[in-house]
Amino acid sequence: MGVSVQEYARECAAQGLRGDYSVCRADFTVEQKYDYSAAEQEVWRTLCDRQSKLTKRLAHKSYLDGMEALSLVDRIPDFHEVSDKLRKLSGWEIVAVPGLIPAQPFFDHLANRRFPVTNWLRTREELDYIVEPDMFHDFFGHVPVLSQPAFGDFMQMYGEKAGDLIEAGGGDMITRLYWYTAEYGLMQQAGQPKKAFGAGLMSSFTELQFAVESADAHHVGFDIETVMRTTYEIDKFQRAYFVLPSFDALRDAFQHSDLAGIVKRFKDAPPLDPAMI
Ligand SMILES: [Fe+2]
Repeated sequence: MGVSVQEYARECAAQGLRGDYSVCRADFTVEQKYDYSAAEQEVWRTLCDRQSKLTKRLAHKSYLDGMEALSLVDRIPDFHEVSDKLRKLSGWEIVAVPGLIPAQPFFDHLANRRFPVTNWLRTREELDYIVEPDMFHDFFGHVPVLSQPAFGDFMQMYGEKAGDLIEAGGGDMITRLYWYTAEYGLMQQAGQPKKAFGAGLMSSFTELQFAVESADAHHVGFDIETVMRTTYEIDKFQRAYFVLPSFDALRDAFQHSDLAGIVKRFKDAPPLDPAMI
C-alpha cells in the first residue's frame, strides 16, 4: 500500500511545494481548470517561442513531428483537447496533476498510457530555472515524443515493470534508465548529426545547446546495462549523454533484456562514473 493522498499532501505542504494536493483524486490527478490568466498565457508563449527557435535546430525529427501534430505552442494547452489528438496517434493521453506525485501512482499512469502533466506554470521570474517540474517541462518536454508509438510502448512497459525492479533493489538503476532516455536522451537521425528528445533537454535553454552541439559534451552509444549502472547529475549539466539508434531499439532493449538479472548482478556494485564510460 503506497502513500495516501492526504499524507502526501501534508508532506508536500511541509516541503513548500507549490501544487495544491488537497484536491487530488485517489490516483493523484486533478481537474485541469482552464482558468489561466493573460500573464500566464504570455509566459507560456514566451517560453515556447524562445525554446522553439532552438528545438527547430536541435530536436530530433520525432519530437518535431509530435509537436506539429499536437500544435502545442500558441496557448497553454487544454489537456482534453491534446489527449484526443494523442489517443489517435499513439494511444496515450495526458492527465493533470498538482506537481510531482509518488512513484507507484506515477508508474500506474504510465502502465495505462497516461502521462501526468503539472497543471501550473512557472512565473516570468523563473523563465530560466525552476526547482520543481512545471507544465512547461512536463508538456513541452515530455508530451511531443509520446505521439511516437515505439517510445510510447517503452514508457508503458517502464510503468509496468518499474515497481518489481525497485522491489528487487533496482530503484537507482531503473531511475537512471528514465533519466538518460526520457529526460536526457539523444538519438541518431538519418544523414544528420545526433539530435535531442529528452524532456530535461527540450525544456532547458542552455543544456539543450550544450548536449547537442558542444565539443565538450560526452556522447555514448546506448547500452541498457551501461545506462542502468551509470550515475547522473541532478542540478548540473550531465557528464554523459546516451545516444539511441532509434525508439524501436529502446523499446526492444527494454522488452527483451533480462532487467531483473542486470539488477541482481550490479545492485551492490559501485556505479559507473559517466566521465569514464
Ligand atoms: Fe521530466
